Amino acid sequence: MEAILLVGGRGTRLRPLTISTPKPLLPTAGAPFLAHQLARAHAAGVTRIVFATSYRAEMFEAAFGTSAHGVELTYVSEREPLGTGGAIRNAAPALTSGPDDPVLILNGDILSGHDVRAQVELHEKAGAAATLHLTKVEDPSRFGSVPTDGQGRVTAFLEKTNNPVTDQINAGCYVFRRSAIDTIPEGEVVSVERETFPGLISSGQVVMGHVEAGYWLDVGTPEAFVQGSRDLVLGRIASPAMPGEPGQRLLLDGAVVSPRAVVRGGTAVGRGAEVEGGATVEGSVLQDGAFVAEGATVRDSVVGRGARVGAGAVLDGVILGDGASVGPGNELRNGLRLWPGIALPPTAVRFSADDS
Ligand code: GDD
Ligand code: MG
Repeated sequence: MEAILLVGGRGTRLRPLTISTPKPLLPTAGAPFLAHQLARAHAAGVTRIVFATSYRAEMFEAAFGTSAHGVELTYVSEREPLGTGGAIRNAAPALTSGPDDPVLILNGDILSGHDVRAQVELHEKAGAAATLHLTKVEDPSRFGSVPTDGQGRVTAFLEKTNNPVTDQINAGCYVFRRSAIDTIPEGEVVSVERETFPGLISSGQVVMGHVEAGYWLDVGTPEAFVQGSRDLVLGRIASPAMPGEPGQRLLLDGAVVSPRAVVRGGTAVGRGAEVEGGATVEGSVLQDGAFVAEGATVRDSVVGRGARVGAGAVLDGVILGDGASVGPGNELRNGLRLWPGIALPPTAVRFSADDS
């Protein structure tokens, strides 16, 4: 089976990490985020993937080439972002599938343990134009709310509304009949969520919902991104692309962790990163070359490439951009983000993003 992978978004909610690297390529549990998706797609029977790229398009081919994790890869880039539906239509000429074949469409920021084969089976059995993976979340207002009838047929698609009709949401993995993709208008900005799905439903086409509860996460926010990496390292979701065994921590080549440091809770320590004695790092991502000095505490945070955390400093729920530096003794909490290269002198601040 072939798939289209949507990876053209700018990942603004993950800035400053996404200034240099698009969201799907951010190091996550020791590998670019997409490596986990590619490996899982391969395990689900996907043999060929068309990347629909836009923002920093060239970086995807540089990262994965023409084949990776058992999947043949090809790339189609939009000059201007065409939206999710426009991107799917734009990538379609690169597919080799026939008109009635199922084609998988994947959002590029989802970690999901659901059974893709079962989703495809439902699609084929129902003779559907499209079949969506649906899951339940606490706050559906940030997602596409998707009600179904007693037979599992999708009755409406309501993208990001204040009053969602159900907590059952679009999980960002679709099976499309190839010919249904070809009905999306070409060369235009189209939202699959706001236009294509509502259009298919109102024109009486069969759109099915495959409801499955297992592990599911959209890594598009800083908290969720850190959680995704942590869950992969801890083995809460299995990934054939993890460069090591699941456990409290994952150390990449050249990582140096003092025997007097505590590094746990699903922390990933990048190449050449260093954690000194007396430091505690929990549930965090230390990118390549990051440095955590003695006695510092880093929790639920991302320390960007070559960024430095000074002695005794505290980071809790913080994003440190590449090369940023936090002087000894500072305390940063709660969603604070430091832009690349910024340097805080010793004990300059005790800041939280709530302090406005
Ligand atoms: N090629 C291309 N071009 N890709 C795009 C474009 C575009 O113009 N716009 C967005 N994408 C890609 C993003 O890179 C991402 O992988 C995917 O499409 C979804 O975009 P997000 O920006 O992450 O959307 P979202 O998380 O707010 O909402 C979507 O996902 C939810 C599930 O996580 C929607 O599909 C919701 O309905 C859904 O519930
Ligand atoms: Mg998303």
